[in-house]
Amino acid sequence: MSKITETMKSYNEKVNGFLYDVLDMTDADYPVIFEAVNYSVKNGGKRIRPFLVLKFSELAGADPFSKTALYFASALECIHTYSLIHDDLPCMDDDDLRRGKPTNHKVYGEANATLAGDALNTYAFEIIADSDAAPELKVKAVKALSSCAGMFGMVGGQVMDLIGESKTLDKREYEKMNALKTGALIRCAAKLGLIAAGCEDDDTYKNADIYASCVGRAFQIRDDILDVIADEAVFGKPVGSDAENGKTTVLSFMTLGQAQSLAAKLTETAKNAISKYGEKSRDLMDLADYLLERNV
Ligand code: IPE
Ligand code: IPE
Ligand code: MG
Ligand code: MG
Ligand code: MG
Repeated sequence: MSKITETMKSYNEKVNGFLYDVLDMTDADYPVIFEAVNYSVKNGGKRIRPFLVLKFSELAGADPFSKTALYFASALECIHTYSLIHDDLPCMDDDDLRRGKPTNHKVYGEANATLAGDALNTYAFEIIADSDAAPELKVKAVKALSSCAGMFGMVGGQVMDLIGESKTLDKREYEKMNALKTGALIRCAAKLGLIAAGCEDDDTYKNADIYASCVGRAFQIRDDILDVIADEAVFGKPVGSDAENGKTTVLSFMTLGQAQSLAAKLTETAKNAISKYGEKSRDLMDLADYLLERNV
C-alpha cells in the first residue's frame, strides 16, 4: 500500500467511526429507512470528501480529528451519499451497481431510495446543528454546504447532466456541468475544513479553492475515463453507463489520452496552489496524484 493510501485508510477509520455513530438510530415502526440509509453509507466509498475536510482543517493549523471537523466531514459525506443514491435511480442514470453492491433502489425499491436520499440530505444539516462548533461557524458551514449542494451547486450540475443526454453540451456547458455536479462538493470539502479550523485568512480560502476546483475537474475527467476503461469488479460501478445514457462527457470532446493529459495538467495546477504550505500540504498533493491514477 502506498503512503497516501495508508494515510487515507487511517483517516477513514476515524471518519467511519464517527459517521456510523451519528447514523446509529432506528424507529421500530419504520426501520426500513434507517436500514436503507445505513446500507448506502456503510457500503464502502473512498471518503475523499471527508478526507479533504480533515486535511484542510489540519492545513489551517487545527487538529484534523477535532470533533468539529469530524461533524462537518460526516455531514458532507451524507450529502454525497444522498447524491449517489439519487444519481443511480431509474429516472436518472439507472444504474444497478454502486460501491460494488446493488444500488439502493435495487434493494429497497425506488420510493425508499428516494426517501433515503431525502433523509441523508436533511440529516446533514442536523449533524451540523448538533455539532460542537461555535454558532457563527455552524452558520458558515450551513451556508457553504447548502449552496454547494443546491441549485447553483451539485443539483444544478445534475440537471445539466440530464440536459446533456438529449443534446451534446458545448465545451463551456460541459465545463460548467462538471464544476457543479462534482466540483461543488469537493470545493465544499476544502472550505468546510477551513471553517472547522476557524480560519480567517482569505488567501488560504483562495488557494484551497483553486486546489479543490482543479482536483474536482480532474476527478470527474478520471471518472468519465473509468466509465470506459475500468474493470467493473474493481470500479464497483457499471462500466459503459455514460455511453448507454448518451451522456456528454469529457470524451465527447477529446480522446482518452488527451483527457488523461488534461487531468494531469489540472493536478499540477492544484498542487501548485497549495505548495507554499510545505509539509502541511504534502498529503493533499499526494492525494491529487493518487486520484489522477485511481482505478476505483
Ligand atoms: C462518485 O464519487 C461520483 C462522482 C462525483 C464521480 P466518488 O468516486 O467519490 O464515490 P465514492 O464515495 O468513492 O463511492
Ligand atoms: C456524478 O456523476 C455526479 C453526482 C453528483 C452523483 P456520475 O453520474 O458520473 O457519477 P457516477 O459515475 O454514477 O458515480
Ligand atoms: Mg450521473
Ligand atoms: Mg451516475
Ligand atoms: Mg460517472
